[in-house]
Amino acid sequence: MGLPTETVYGLAADVFQSLAIARIFEAKGRPLTDPLIVHLPEVGWLDRVVRFTSLEQRNLVGSLASAFWPGPLTLILPKHPEVPDLVTAGSETIAVRVTSHPLFQKVLRRLDSPLAAPSANRFGRISPVTAQDVQSELGEVIPLILDGGRCTHGLESTILSVTGDAMEILRPGPITEDDLNQCGHVVRLGGRGGVVNTPGSLPGHYAPKKELVILESDIKEVLPKPNTALLAFREPLPEIASRFAKVIVLSPSGDLREAASNFYAALREFDKSEVDMMVAKPLPEEGIGVAIMDRLRRASYGSKHGTGHQS
Ligand code: TXA
Ligand code: MG
Repeated sequence: MGLPTETVYGLAADVFQSLAIARIFEAKGRPLTDPLIVHLPEVGWLDRVVRFTSLEQRNLVGSLASAFWPGPLTLILPKHPEVPDLVTAGSETIAVRVTSHPLFQKVLRRLDSPLAAPSANRFGRISPVTAQDVQSELGEVIPLILDGGRCTHGLESTILSVTGDAMEILRPGPITEDDLNQCGHVVRLGGRGGVVNTPGSLPGHYAPKKELVILESDIKEVLPKPNTALLAFREPLPEIASRFAKVIVLSPSGDLREAASNFYAALREFDKSEVDMMVAKPLPEEGIGVAIMDRLRRASYGSKHGTGHQS
């Protein structure tokens, strides 16, 4: 079932029904080595899917939960033995978050079981932020999509590994490194601008079908090929805009949160348009800009090289 969350739409199934979980992988064409995120309506359900290994870990999760849940933060924690291995791709850890979306919460409470849900797109492709996006990605292979309107954040949750009292960001997202520093010292794998390697996190992902290139030189010096689009953070100067066949602006007011929420829609608009390729101006790598640049680099890599998986 396609369901809205506050980040992107998910393709959800009961975590304890292995057959339904297998159908998620099948519908997305996702490799079985890529574990899923489990969604809960409230922190009180954590013990259904997690088995804490220390009091320190439980306390740290308690403070993260009161600061950021419900919301776009996924925690990697030790898995409860009853959770099927398929969900976690054989790992002893599980990815879990409490979603704030009222519709998703309602479904969880009605079913009285946690739901595993990856983003509701074909593997390696652009994440969906509206029910129509889910319909165009997976409409032919899934029985039901609930329409909860457009997702607020528009980028996937921040993934944070919590071992003992240590925290490590595995995927940047709407909850930023600065936000997390309130709860203790945070390490970001790969460093600023680096590519992170969690299971299933590939250099090529979120990929449009046509080529997307990140500008390395000053935009004033760029002479684009004919029929090329520009992906810009703010409104470009008219003399720059006029060199491109199409301009997509992520945030006219220069707001990174707004840019994040428009990012995947911009990639879809590019794919649907008549242009042959798109060049993107890098965004400031601060706050949620770190997550946007992470997705932009993967989208660009994926547009040139694919995901690297046969599926
Ligand atoms: O915002 C989101 O997180 C969305 C919505 C639907 O909740 N979900 C999402 O799921 O982005 P997905 O499947 O597209 O990305 C999940 C990623 C995996 O690719 C993997 O990198 C990481 O979560 N993951 C899951 N379980 C993990 C584990 N045990 N250890 C490390 N990483 C894990
Ligand atoms: Mg995804």
